[in-house]
This record gives sequence, structure tokens and C-alpha cells, in this order.
Amino acid sequence: MRVAIVGTGYVGLTTAACLAYLGHEVACVDSDQQKVATLCSGGLPIFEPYLAELLALSQGRISFTSDPSTALPSAEVIFVAVGTPPGENGSPDLRFVRSAAESIGRNLGHGSSTVVVNKSTVPIGSGSWVDSIVRDSMERGMAARFSVASNPEFLREGCALSDTLYPDRVVLGTADAASRKVLEELYHPILEQTFQPPPFLPRPAGYHKVQLVSTDVTSAELIKYAANAFLALKISYINEIGALADRVGADILEVARGIGLDSRIGSRFLNRGSVGAGHASARTQRLWFLQPPNTIWRCPSFRPPARSIPASGILLSRNCKVNYGS
Ligand SMILES: NC(=O)c1ccc[n+]([C@@H]2O[C@H](COP(=O)([O-])OP(=O)(O)OC[C@H]3O[C@@H](n4cnc5c(N)ncnc54)[C@H](O)[C@@H]3O)[C@@H](O)[C@H]2O)c1
Repeated sequence: MRVAIVGTGYVGLTTAACLAYLGHEVACVDSDQQKVATLCSGGLPIFEPYLAELLALSQGRISFTSDPSTALPSAEVIFVAVGTPPGENGSPDLRFVRSAAESIGRNLGHGSSTVVVNKSTVPIGSGSWVDSIVRDSMERGMAARFSVASNPEFLREGCALSDTLYPDRVVLGTADAASRKVLEELYHPILEQTFQPPPFLPRPAGYHKVQLVSTDVTSAELIKYAANAFLALKISYINEIGALADRVGADILEVARGIGLDSRIGSRFLNRGSVGAGHASARTQRLWFLQPPNTIWRCPSFRPPARSIPASGILLSRNCKVNYGS
């Protein structure tokens, strides 16, 4: 399948490498010409274990450009994987998503049928917003069909490739049966685990088929935000219990182990002091919604307890530095 990926940052580049490894033709577009030059000359703008090796195995099926007009018109699937950094008040800055959507609208191929897939973490309701921007940016009278879908990303930096090839689940939010079929075909090798694993990324023991959550666009967008929020809650919760353990003279490590061994709860994300991981950092985690006419608002009832974050937490991600200023 012919795939284009707009934004070759962490998510875009690792997704591109995995899809090309699986046999798809992947064209990556990035507005950062320096980054594209590095990638074209065989360099890597990020460090991710085995990324260089995976790209070497995908040579001939992956290309890099800063010119969307060479990459987008022939793509059957276009992923939007641009950044959505926190703005002034913590709400996501959507200007890169907007410019990516405009560029897609201007570069759809004549007579083409394309699924535009949002992989960036975007506020709930962004699907129809992106749809309207793509539509408004199309040339007048242009005969091209497209549909906007949501495929939220759950990878962790440092394990991005195995998280993509061997995910806990794949979430596909689509507006129609035709786009669902296209995306299920794209992900078929991952969903059914029919590919030969790269020698350096073996399939985990006992890992077989992948759970597919096939749903509507809005539900897919909410799944991503709700999953981030739940992880943030778990971190905040164990920090609250840690504060209580200090006061009553209990051992928080034993308490966390005792809680986490309950299979309904699980032990992951119950480490005291883990202030945030990836984009699900506890203090800044909010539920953001996009409402016509493009007003972003915050779910008023959701706010993890800020005081549960210790001043000297363990920084698990480069993104946390921005959020915590420590
Ligand atoms: N990094 C993670 O661990 C992670 C995990 C899950 C979800 N996400 C989400 O995925 C999205 C992407 O994250 P990332 O870490 O890859 O971002 P990033 O900042 O590393 O990369 C974004 C890339 O997009 C490019 N770009 C911006 N506007 C563009 C345009 N109009 N056309 C072409 N290229 C453009 C930038 O030059 C940059 O290279 C974000 O919404 C993020 O929240 C990230």
C-alpha cells in the first residue's frame, strides 16, 4: 500500500520504519529541511534502539522529502504525525495539525481516494475540524475523495519499535466502512502477526494476535485521552499513598507491590515518584475537547491532585522537563 506520513518526529519516523519494514511504500514529509537532509543522508535525528537497523532493512521502500507535492498525491493513506505541544494555558497547540491538514488538502491527487489518519494526540472533535480544513484547502472543482480517521498512538520512547510491531491493541476510528477496510488491510501484518520479526526485535513469547478496537472517530480520540488520563491518575494515586505511608510509617514499596499484585489493578505505573511518562504526565494531564467553532475547552471535573507530585520526581521523558520545570 502507498503511505505518506506528514511529520517525521518520534511517532512519524518510527511508524514509517515499521510500515516500510512490513512491505508498504512509505513517503515521509517534514517541513524541517535540516531533518529531511539528515534522513536522506542516512543519519537519524532521534535516538531509538534498532531504528537504524530497521530502516536499513526497509531501504527502497521508504523516502524522505520536504515537498508534500511529491509525496502526497499518490498516497492511499496519509498519516498526520505532527507535534501538538502544550500551549500557554496547557491546551494543545494545534497549529502544526492545521498546517498539515492544509498541505494535505492542497496536494490530494486528482481522482484519488485517500484516508487521512490522525496519529497526533488531538482534542476530541478534531476529526471533523481536520476534515473541514482539508476540504477548504482543496482546489476548487478538484475531483478527490477523502475521509478522516483516527489512529491514536500509544508508543513509549525507547521501546517505540516493539510497541508498534507488538502493540497491546490497535485503535482505529473511522467514519465509513471503506476507510475501515483500507486501514485494516494496512495493519493486517501487525493485527495477524504474519510478518517475519526482525532479528533484533523478536516477537515476545506467547504473543499472537493483536486486539483491534474498531470504532468511530470521536471514540478513538477519547480512548487516547482517557488512557493518558488513567495512567496519570495511577501515578498521582500512588504518590498520594506514598505521602500517607510516610506519615504512618509504612513501606511504600511493599504497599505498591501488595496493591499491584491484584490482577484487576496491575503493578505498572504504581511506582512512587514516577511523575510522568511520555505525554501522559500527571500534573498537566487534562481532557481537552474541540468544539465548533474551534474552541478548545477543558473538562472541568477532571484534574489529578497536583500536590501528589513530589518536587524531586524521576523524569522519565524529555517532555516532562517542559511540564515540570525541574
Ligand atoms: N513521542 C511520543 O512518545 C508520543 C507518544 C504518543 C503520542 N504522541 C503524539 O504524537 C504526535 C507527534 O509527536 P512526536 O513526538 O513525534 O512529535 P515531534 O515534535 O517529535 O515531531 C513532529 C514533526 O512534525 C514536523 N512538522 C510540523 N508541522 C509540519 C507540517 N505542516 N508538515 C510537515 N511536517 C511538519 C516537525 O518538523 C517535526 O519533525 C504528538 O501529537 C504527540 O503528542 C507522541
